[in-house]
Amino acid sequence: MCGIVGYIGHREAYPIILKGLKRLEYRGYDSAGIALYDGTDIKLSKTKGKVADLEERLEKEISTTGTLGIGHTRWATHGVPNDVNSHPHYSNSGDLVIIHNGIIENYESLKKELIKRGYTFKSDTDTEVLVNLIEDVKKKEKTKLGKAVQIALNQVVGAYAIAVFDKNKPNEIVVARLGSPLAIGIGEDEFFIASDASPFIEYTKNAIYLEDEEMAVVRRHKGIKIRKIKDDSLVAPYIQELQLNLEQIEKGGYEHFMLKEIYEQPSAILDTFRGRLLSNEAIIKMAGVEDNMKKFLNANRIIIVACGTSWHAGLVAEYIFEDLARIPVEVEYASEFRYRNPIINENDVVIAISQSGETADTLAAIKLAKSKGAFVFGVCNVVGSSIARESDAGAYTHAGPEIGVASTKAFTTQITVLSLIALRLARAKGTISSSDYRTHLLELELIPGKVKTALESDAYVKTVADIYKDAKNFLYLGRGYNFPVALEGALKLKEISYIHAEGYPAAEMKHGPIALIDENMPIVVIATKKGHYEKVVSNIQEIKSRSGKIIGIVTVGDKQVKELADHVIEVPETIESLTPLLTTIPLQLLSYHIALMLGKNVDQPRNLAKAVTVE
Ligand code: G6P
Repeated sequence: MCGIVGYIGHREAYPIILKGLKRLEYRGYDSAGIALYDGTDIKLSKTKGKVADLEERLEKEISTTGTLGIGHTRWATHGVPNDVNSHPHYSNSGDLVIIHNGIIENYESLKKELIKRGYTFKSDTDTEVLVNLIEDVKKKEKTKLGKAVQIALNQVVGAYAIAVFDKNKPNEIVVARLGSPLAIGIGEDEFFIASDASPFIEYTKNAIYLEDEEMAVVRRHKGIKIRKIKDDSLVAPYIQELQLNLEQIEKGGYEHFMLKEIYEQPSAILDTFRGRLLSNEAIIKMAGVEDNMKKFLNANRIIIVACGTSWHAGLVAEYIFEDLARIPVEVEYASEFRYRNPIINENDVVIAISQSGETADTLAAIKLAKSKGAFVFGVCNVVGSSIARESDAGAYTHAGPEIGVASTKAFTTQITVLSLIALRLARAKGTISSSDYRTHLLELELIPGKVKTALESDAYVKTVADIYKDAKNFLYLGRGYNFPVALEGALKLKEISYIHAEGYPAAEMKHGPIALIDENMPIVVIATKKGHYEKVVSNIQEIKSRSGKIIGIVTVGDKQVKELADHVIEVPETIESLTPLLTTIPLQLLSYHIALMLGKNVDQPRNLAKAVTVE
C-alpha cells in the first residue's frame, strides 16, 4: 500500500511528482505529501486527504521549485491518517527526508534505542524511526547516505520501498526495496522513481525494477549503482522496455476507472486468450503450462492461493478444474494458508492468483509452498510483479492496467486464463471428449461478444439501482459455478457503496440468511438456464413467500424467473462453466450505479487500497 514517487534531473520535479501521485492514488489515498529540493532549501508539504487536497494546500504553502523531489500517497498502517503521520518525514537534524511504502516491524525496539540516544519523534510512524536510524548510523559511522541506508536496513525487519535524500547531497536519491515494489525510470540525464511505472510512462520507456534486498544510489549526471543490501555486492542493472502506454492509464472519456474497466472486459478477455486459443486447430498454447505439463498431470492436487476478488476467481477455477480436468482443487485464503502449517509437498501444484502480483499474503503463501517443494504457477496481471517473478512458471492475464480499486476486468480475465489451463489439462488427461473440448473453445471465443451484449443491460441495471440504492442490506445467491459470482457481487457492493451485502450458495439460504428476509431485503439471485436452474427457482419461491425483493440474473428469453422476480436482468446463453464471465457483468454495474447514486467515491473507496503489500 502507499505509492511513492521521486524525480532527479533537469526538469521541475513538482509537476512530475504531483501527476505521478495522482496515478498511484489507487495504492492508498488517506494522506499525501511532497518534498522538493532546489539545492538550497527543502520545501515540504503534507496533509491528510487526497492528492488533490495536497495540491490545493501545497501551492499556497511552499514554492514549488526544485529539480529533486519525492512524494507519497498513504494508506495508513502505523498512526492514524493525519498531517503529522503523512510522509515525507524529516530526520531530527532536518537533513534527511524519506518516503516509505511498507512496514518496519521492529520499529518499536529501534525507536526505544533511538530515544535513549536523544532522538525525538513527532509522528507515530515506523517511517520516522527508519529515517532517524539512518541518520544515527550516518553520524556514528561517519559515512555517506548510501552506506548509512544499507547499514540501517540490515537492522530492520519488515517490508519497504523507500526513497531518501540528504540536504548535503543535492544530486542524489537513495532507494531500496524489500517486499514492496520499486521501479526506476531512466531518461536522458534524469531518473524517475515510483511504485510502478505509471508516473513516468510519458517520459521514458526504459525502467529498472529493483529486486528484493536491493538498493540503488541514483545520481544526477552520474547514473545508478545497484547493490545487494546484505552483502554489498554490485548488481548489473537490467533495463526493461515498458509495454505500458499513456492511454491505458487514463480514463478515456469514462467518468470513472471502474466503469472504463467494466467496459473494457470484451477486449480484455480477447487479449487474454489471443494467441493462446487457436480454435481452428483446436489448440490451446500456453508456454507456462506446456513446459510444466508433467507437474500438472502428476499433481496430487492443485492448491489455489489468493485474496479478495482473486480468491473468488480461484473458487470459480475450483469448479472448472474439478469438472473438466478431474484434478482435486483446494482454494485457500493466502493469509490463512501461510500461517496454518499446511500439509504440502513436491506433489502439489500451487496456483497463485493476483491482479497486482504484489499482495503480501499471497507472496508469503507461495514462498512457503516453494520452501516445501511445491511447484508454483502464478496468474498475475502486472507484468514483472513480485508474485510473477517468485513463481516457478505462470501466465499473465493481459488485462491491461486496472486502476479502479474495485476489481472488475481482473476477475473475468483471471477466469479466462484459468479456463484455458483447465481445458488444456483436461485435453491432456483425456477427461474431456474432443467434441466437448471444441465446443468449449468455440464458446470461449464468443465470450467477448457476449460480454458486450451483457453490457447493454447497463441502462436497465441503473433503474434497478435507483430502486434499491437505499437498502441497508443485500443478499446475493448463486449455485455451482455462480456461487463464487454471488460472493463477488456482494463484495463489489460492499467495497464501493458501503452497503452490507452477503453472498451465499442459494441452497444454504435456509440455514440462516432466510431469517433476514422481509419486504426490505433485496436479493440478487443468479438463475441462469444451465446449472441447477430448477433448484434455484425453488429458492426464489422460498424468498417470494417471505416477501423478499428479487433481482434475477437470468439467461436471455427466461420465462419462469421472470414471472416470480421483481426485476430480471438478462445475459446471453453460454455453456455452464463460462456463465460467470457473463453473470458478473450486471453485478459490477449494479454496485457501480448504487455507489454513484449514493455519492461515494467509486474509484477510491474508503479504507481500501488496490495493492495490499502489508499483512
Ligand atoms: C485488495 C483489492 C482487491 C483485490 C485484493 C487482492 O483488497 O482492493 O480488489 O482483489 O486486494 O489483490 P490482488 O492484486 O492480489 O489480486
